[in-house]
Amino acid sequence: MTTQRTQVAIIGAGPAGLLLGQLLHRAGIANIIVERQDGAYILGRIRAGVLEQTTCDLLDEAGVGARLHADGLVHHGIELCFGGARHRIDLTGLTGGKHVTVYGQTEVTRDMMDARAAAGLTTVYHAKDAALHGFDGDTPRVTYSHAGAVHEIRCDFIAGCDGYHGVSRASVPPAALSIFEKVYPFGWLGVLADTPPVAHELIYSNHERGFALCSMRSTTRTRYYVQCALHDKVEQWSDTAFWDELRLRLDPQAAQALVTGPSIEKSIAPLRSFVAEPMRFGTLFLAGDAAHIVPPTGAKGLNLAASDVRFLSRAFIEHYTERSRAGIDHYSERCLRRIWKAERFSWWFTGLMHRFPETGAIGQKLQRAELDYLVGSTAASTALAENYVGLPFEV
Ligand code: APR
Ligand code: PHB
Repeated sequence: MTTQRTQVAIIGAGPAGLLLGQLLHRAGIANIIVERQDGAYILGRIRAGVLEQTTCDLLDEAGVGARLHADGLVHHGIELCFGGARHRIDLTGLTGGKHVTVYGQTEVTRDMMDARAAAGLTTVYHAKDAALHGFDGDTPRVTYSHAGAVHEIRCDFIAGCDGYHGVSRASVPPAALSIFEKVYPFGWLGVLADTPPVAHELIYSNHERGFALCSMRSTTRTRYYVQCALHDKVEQWSDTAFWDELRLRLDPQAAQALVTGPSIEKSIAPLRSFVAEPMRFGTLFLAGDAAHIVPPTGAKGLNLAASDVRFLSRAFIEHYTERSRAGIDHYSERCLRRIWKAERFSWWFTGLMHRFPETGAIGQKLQRAELDYLVGSTAASTALAENYVGLPFEV
């Protein structure tokens, strides 16, 4: 068995692990990332693409913001579509000047992978059987096998950035964890296509046939979704069936403007709200999807992962440079305050926009009344806008 020594061992090279690694490196803190898959697999996963300003700021701080600023699309509003018409929510006007940036998670990940490689930092891809040891004390270790040999990393801290299906949360004794979970009775069928966006801003549509979302990756690449049944299979959905269904769920003007084309990627994702508490166990810290999942309505997943990493990187920096335990001791509580607000918002926005099989006619009438209220009331629109652009860190 070979032994390596580092300060922070990071499990998982998704957005959370890569961002943490980059921020720590810039602060002079050594880290190694251990990843089960390879880079191509990670870049093949299509995820949401709306970044809050604080996420962009953190990417700048990590030194990976150049392409985001060059290619990201700044959006000042979103549109809500219902009853055959669209209603704009003026994000910037309602939040005193804030905006969001549309830039795909795949690109964020690619930028961080490139920066990590350029800095010569270690990422062990294809690491199998990662196991976490001794995190109830001050000398934690990570073991894994790679190319047939077993390796060990001795470290001060372990960061569990290995997503919902990772080993980190699973290594914690079940009695030490509280789990909160809700699974929604439908999925999202998503299509990526090289077609011009149907509108300049994102359209969130509540339609009697189900929810639809028109998003984009650039001015020439679109990402569209329709609510589908949980048991639907991608193979059942031809491109034509997808475009026809999307068109039906839009207002007449957008339906007419919709440009269709062959899909580059097509997948179905289930929707889930999930939180595991707490997020620290001795010298093990969970961050990102390892600790929480939001349904994608509102695109909070990546932003929340970045928010955890912001707290965690600062906690480690405080520990190493100021010998202060404050950030470490408050990590879980600070993250969770923000996480629960984003969980609430994502749950609310999901409930407002989707067709729920069980709520019946009264559910639809109440949804419609809430949508009418939302677009007609500055107070209600402001509540949506301030959550959409991202709540400030102090709240
Ligand atoms: N050993 C090593 N690596 C692992 C293991 C394991 N046992 N289990 C999982 N991983 C890796 C996965 O292969 C993946 O690359 O951890 C990484 C976790 O990445 P994500 O699932 O993307 O999670 P996270 O970095 O927290 O990203 C949060 O991205 O996934 C979206 O919706 C999510 O937008 C949110 C954001
Ligand atoms: C996306 O672009 O994939 C996206 C955008 C907004 C959402 C969810 C997904 O709310």
